[in-house]
Amino acid sequence: MSKSIKLAILGLGTVGTGVVNLINDNLAELKRRSGSDIIITEVGTRRQRDDIDPTIIQNDDLMAIAASDNVDIVIEVIGGITLAKDIMIHAIKNGKHVVTANKALLAEHGNEIFALAEAHNVHVAYEAAVAGGIPIIKVMREALAANKIDWLAGIINGTGNFIMTEMRDKGRPFADVLAEAQELGYAEADPTFDVEGIDAAHKLALLASIAFGIPLQFDKVYCEGITGITLQDVNYAEELGYRIKHLGFAVRRDSKDNNQEDQGIELRVHPTLIPQDALLANVNGVKNAVLVSSHPLGQTLYCGDGAGAGATASAVMADVMDLVRVLGANDQDSSRSHHVPHLAFMPEQLSDTPILRAEQMKTGYYLRVHAYDNPGVLADITRILSDAGINIDAILQKPAHKLGEVPVIILTLPVIESQMNEAIAKIEKLAAVADKVVRIRLDELAQ
Ligand code: HSE
Repeated sequence: MSKSIKLAILGLGTVGTGVVNLINDNLAELKRRSGSDIIITEVGTRRQRDDIDPTIIQNDDLMAIAASDNVDIVIEVIGGITLAKDIMIHAIKNGKHVVTANKALLAEHGNEIFALAEAHNVHVAYEAAVAGGIPIIKVMREALAANKIDWLAGIINGTGNFIMTEMRDKGRPFADVLAEAQELGYAEADPTFDVEGIDAAHKLALLASIAFGIPLQFDKVYCEGITGITLQDVNYAEELGYRIKHLGFAVRRDSKDNNQEDQGIELRVHPTLIPQDALLANVNGVKNAVLVSSHPLGQTLYCGDGAGAGATASAVMADVMDLVRVLGANDQDSSRSHHVPHLAFMPEQLSDTPILRAEQMKTGYYLRVHAYDNPGVLADITRILSDAGINIDAILQKPAHKLGEVPVIILTLPVIESQMNEAIAKIEKLAAVADKVVRIRLDELAQ
């Protein structure tokens, strides 16, 4: 073996423990592939663990580990923002390469962190931050490097997909499935990040930057979670040939789809009706999947476990293996020049293409209107939609139930959101409409 590479693992939760186990299980393969000896020298943990090899130093001073001479690569898997950011900056300033699974930190502070890493000639690798074990970062940064990416759509939160799948297949209550996802180590420390779409928005911000060569702009991602989805809507969607999935979309809108002032990039995560036979509609449980449409390649789909110890450890160690090769290179300028830039495009070439506001985005819609069973109410609703230039694709009206209210389900073709907002406001003002209109976006992109 040519060289020993010394790793520090900061955090021994689900992911950190998964990395230790992976190294123990696959050490011979790792050595054969990298040509180097890979050794965990230090772990950062608040309490001493007696299940860790006694030759590994256990330390609760994470800043000390980040600067230790006994460490080449720092694996940050503590999560959270404030402490993780301080540690990462300290590690970079001390010349350490960093591997992280921390999508929240990178989505919110990645521009600053990547610039600092460039300045210190080290790399911050983040495969594990997006879609767990699926090597989507490597694919987008390297394998698709010759393509122009038009759009991507993905199931990028395993917990949310697990919940939606169990609700639909088994009619299980939301809270019960979420508790199981937490026990299985899928959910974030704060599970509202999963169910409110924030975790997916973090990941989408990262994917969009490497797809389009734009700075990270998490604050501009339109974000809606799954907490408002009812079994009633899941069932109506199925009846109409659709399935509700929580999806992230990054879409380049140009003159062929939008007006001049609405050209830019859509970044949005939300529950979405997609056709039941679409590939993404059949990705279930904790699986993630990302569908990428690029030119000239066309559509490609990447699918696998999006959360959990083994999947995330696989992605962490893939990054470690890349860095082991960098550290083992013989020439002087071994780190930066041999690396794909952090956001896939040269930092000075990032573009300022605008991110569209929610009102400028264009999608189809599922509407559920609760109307009193009066003559003419359906005509009033459809007239409002037609006056707004909204094209109805399907309509389903159930018989009036005991209260004399009828649920009217309408699917529309794609429309700019501001037009739909105006139409819904008018529908809600009709005397024969009993309640707020339920709306869920519908997308045919993800076929
Ligand atoms: N909580 C995340 C998920 C873990 O459920 O997808 C992986 O990022």
